[in-house]
Amino acid sequence: IPVDVDLIEAINELKKEKNALLMAHYYQDNEIQDIADFVGDSLALAWEASKTDADIILLAGVLFMGETAKILSPQKKVLVPDFNAGCSLADSCPAEDFKAFIRRYPDHIVVTYVNTTADVKALSDIVVTSTNAVKIINSIPKDKKIIFGPDRNLGNYLQSISGREMVIWDGACHVHEKFSVEKIIDLKKDYPDAEIIAHPECKKPVLTIADFIGSTASLLKHTQTADADQFIVATESGVIHQMKKASPDKAFIPAPPSDSTCGCNDCEFMRLNTLRKIYLTLKYEYPEVQVAENIRKEAIKPIEKMFELSE
Ligand code: 13P
Repeated sequence: IPVDVDLIEAINELKKEKNALLMAHYYQDNEIQDIADFVGDSLALAWEASKTDADIILLAGVLFMGETAKILSPQKKVLVPDFNAGCSLADSCPAEDFKAFIRRYPDHIVVTYVNTTADVKALSDIVVTSTNAVKIINSIPKDKKIIFGPDRNLGNYLQSISGREMVIWDGACHVHEKFSVEKIIDLKKDYPDAEIIAHPECKKPVLTIADFIGSTASLLKHTQTADADQFIVATESGVIHQMKKASPDKAFIPAPPSDSTCGCNDCEFMRLNTLRKIYLTLKYEYPEVQVAENIRKEAIKPIEKMFELSE
């Protein structure tokens, strides 16, 4: 790319020329969120991908998000700027192992979090996101047994909220697992009026001290409606950009992880995306997400079930 290229201008031109929709998850860098046509949580991104009339979807997020978009919009070209942008949760649940796991519980409904590969979705009965998981688990008849995967923290949280016992896969998100309850308690001493808000992928001790628990979209909404004007935010720090934009007079303090000196907690996979990569991806329409048709046909069923149950 010539050094004098204005990347933002060039990306905007390519988007128009190619009828491309640029979608970004809340965990992207601020500048990517600002240039995106649509910024959202996992549920909103999936929903938007299912109804867009763009010819190209460029998903600035991690690979499973691009796969979900491709499953829902097979006729569209779906691009993800860096295929190394994986997800520790999706990686913690290889399809072959999950298949053997669910075989041990043949009379169970298989509910999986959206952070999985297309192959794992194809083995599932219902997909959930953190925005609709409580509602969907509560909608499953009481006499049905449930397998939940791959996030053990979200699974344990759902068990405690719904009172339903579930067989839970032992996976976790490396970012949310890292938050230090001790450091959050220390931080609260400096900000005694701050609310602690946390994503349900956090470990139980963090969720126990949280004033509010929810998906990225729910946390964002909560900061806009709550009386508090200071928040300690226990999720990937990218979402703070939208919180500040929506409530410029409120203060948002990233919850610290146990092993960092910078005080915030970023997902290195999400942050692999850059404006430069987005420009090149749009220009060359590469790399393109592919999902084998036999897998796609199975994987779309639990996602459509999710849309039906979360209405
Ligand atoms: P939500 O987008 O559902 O809040 O989940 C966050 C996440 O884990 C993205 O990988």
